[in-house]
Amino acid sequence: MLNTAVILAAGKGVRMRSAYPKVIHKVAGLPMIQHVVQAVQEAGIKDIVVVVGHGREYVQEALAELDVDFVVQEQQLGTGHALRQAEARAKGADNILVLSGDIPLIQGLTLAKLLRWHQENNAAATVLSALVEDPSGYGRIIRNQDQSLQRIVEEKDASQDQKRVSEINSGIYCFQSCEVFPRLAGLTTANAQGEYYLTDVLAMMIADGRPVEVAVSENSSDVLGINDRVQMAHCEAVLYQRKNMSLMQSGVTMIAPETVYIDKTVTIGEDTIIRPHTIIEGHTVIGPECDIGPSARISNSVIGRKVVIESSRIIDAHIGDQSTIGPFAYLRPGTRLGNGVKVGDFVEIKNSTVGEGSKIPHLSYVGDAQVGRGVNIGAGTITCNYDGYNKYPTFLEDGVFIGSNTNLVAPVRIGRNSVTGAGSTITRDVPDESLAVERARQRNIAGWPKKTKHDQEVTDQ
Ligand code: UD1
Ligand code: CA
Repeated sequence: MLNTAVILAAGKGVRMRSAYPKVIHKVAGLPMIQHVVQAVQEAGIKDIVVVVGHGREYVQEALAELDVDFVVQEQQLGTGHALRQAEARAKGADNILVLSGDIPLIQGLTLAKLLRWHQENNAAATVLSALVEDPSGYGRIIRNQDQSLQRIVEEKDASQDQKRVSEINSGIYCFQSCEVFPRLAGLTTANAQGEYYLTDVLAMMIADGRPVEVAVSENSSDVLGINDRVQMAHCEAVLYQRKNMSLMQSGVTMIAPETVYIDKTVTIGEDTIIRPHTIIEGHTVIGPECDIGPSARISNSVIGRKVVIESSRIIDAHIGDQSTIGPFAYLRPGTRLGNGVKVGDFVEIKNSTVGEGSKIPHLSYVGDAQVGRGVNIGAGTITCNYDGYNKYPTFLEDGVFIGSNTNLVAPVRIGRNSVTGAGSTITRDVPDESLAVERARQRNIAGWPKKTKHDQEVTDQ
C-alpha cells in the first residue's frame, strides 16, 4: 500500500505580520513545518509532497535536508486548489494524507491512528475532528441526526447555529486518491471567501454515496494550528513541556522544568540533573550523571559523563568526562576539552584543544591553542592570537605551568614541563623543562610617598 502525504504550505500567514512565510518560523528550535514533516515520517509515511507558493524559496530551504518533494501553487486560491497542484505527483498513491504545515504539535501516533482507521473502514475519506472549547476560526463539523457527516462549514459561511458547534475540522484528512483527485476539478468558489475549499470535496463524496468517516482526536492540543505569534508561543510551550516530560521519564532529573527549554533534537543520559533557567539547543548530546545549570546555554555540543556546567555559554564544543565548567565560562566553536579538565570563571576558549587533567581556572582567553595534558594556566593569561590581520597558534606541551597574567604572543610554543613567570610577555619559543621570565627588574625607591606629597604642594602654589 503506497501512502503519500501532502502538506499544504503555500499560504502567507498574514496574521504573523512577517516578511517570511509562516511555516518557516521556528518553534522549539525547528521551523514549524519540520515538526510536521517529522510527525508524518514517524507515522511511517516516506513519500511526502509539500505544496509551496508564498516565499517558496524559504520553505524549500527550511526543508532542504529532509526527504520531501515540492510542487508549486502559483496563486493561493484555496486548500482544494492547493491539493490539486499535487495531483500529478501523488495520484499514483493508494491513500493521501493531507495536512497543513502550521500544526507543529501534531504527533506521529495521531497520524498513524487516523490512517489505520481510514484503511480499516475502507473509507473514501476520513477527516480528523476535535472537540474544542473555543471553535472560532475553524471549520465546523456538521453531522446528520444519525451522527454521520453532512458537511464541513467554514466559520465565515456558518449560520449562528452552526457557529455554536464545538467539533472542529482539524484540517487533517485521509483520502483514497482515486476518490479525491477526480472530484477536485468540480470544486467551485461559491462561498464567502471565494476560494476552492478542500472541505467541499467531502460533501461531494457524501452526495455520491461514498463512505466518509469522522475520527475524533483524543488529544485536541495535537491539532492546534498557528495563525499568529501568540499561538506560536503557546505551541512552543507545549513542545518544551513534552520534551521535558519525556526526558524525566527517561531518567533525567529536572529542577523547575517550567524554566528549562530543550530542543527535541537533544539527547541526555540517565541521572543527569538539569537545573533552572537552562537552554539546550540543536544537536547537543549530554552524557549520564552530569550536573547542568543553573543558567547554562548549550548549543550543538557533545558533553561526556559526570560533567558539571554552571552558568556558562557553550557552542559547538566537545567536553570530556568529569570536566567542570564555569561559573561564567564561554566555550566557543572548536573547543575540545579532554577528560577531567577544569575551566573556571570568566574563561573564554575558542578553536582550541585542551588535554586531560589541564586547568584554566580563572580569567583567561585561550584561542587557537593546543594545550597538552596536565597543564595549568594561571589567572589572567591571554593568548595573543591575532595581530589584526591573521590568527596564529599557541602550543603548550604536557605539564606546562603558565604563571598568572602571562601574555602568550602567537605563534609560540612552550616546551614540556616548562614554566613562565607571572606577568611575562612571551614572544619566543621556550624549550622543554625551562623557566621563561620576561619582565623588568623591580626597583624600590625609598621615601617616595613623602616626596610626591612635597612636589604636589610646590606645584599647587
Ligand atoms: C482550513 C479548513 C478549516 C479547518 C482549518 C484547520 C478549508 C477550506 N478550511 O481553514 O475547515 O478548520 O483549516 O486549521 O480548508 N494553503 C495553501 N494554499 C491555499 C490556501 C491555503 O497552501 O491556496 C495552505 C495554508 O498555507 C495552510 C493550509 O493550507 O497551511 C490551511 O489554509 P488556511 O487558509 O489557514 O485555512 P483555514 O482558513 O485555517
Ligand atoms: Ca489556518
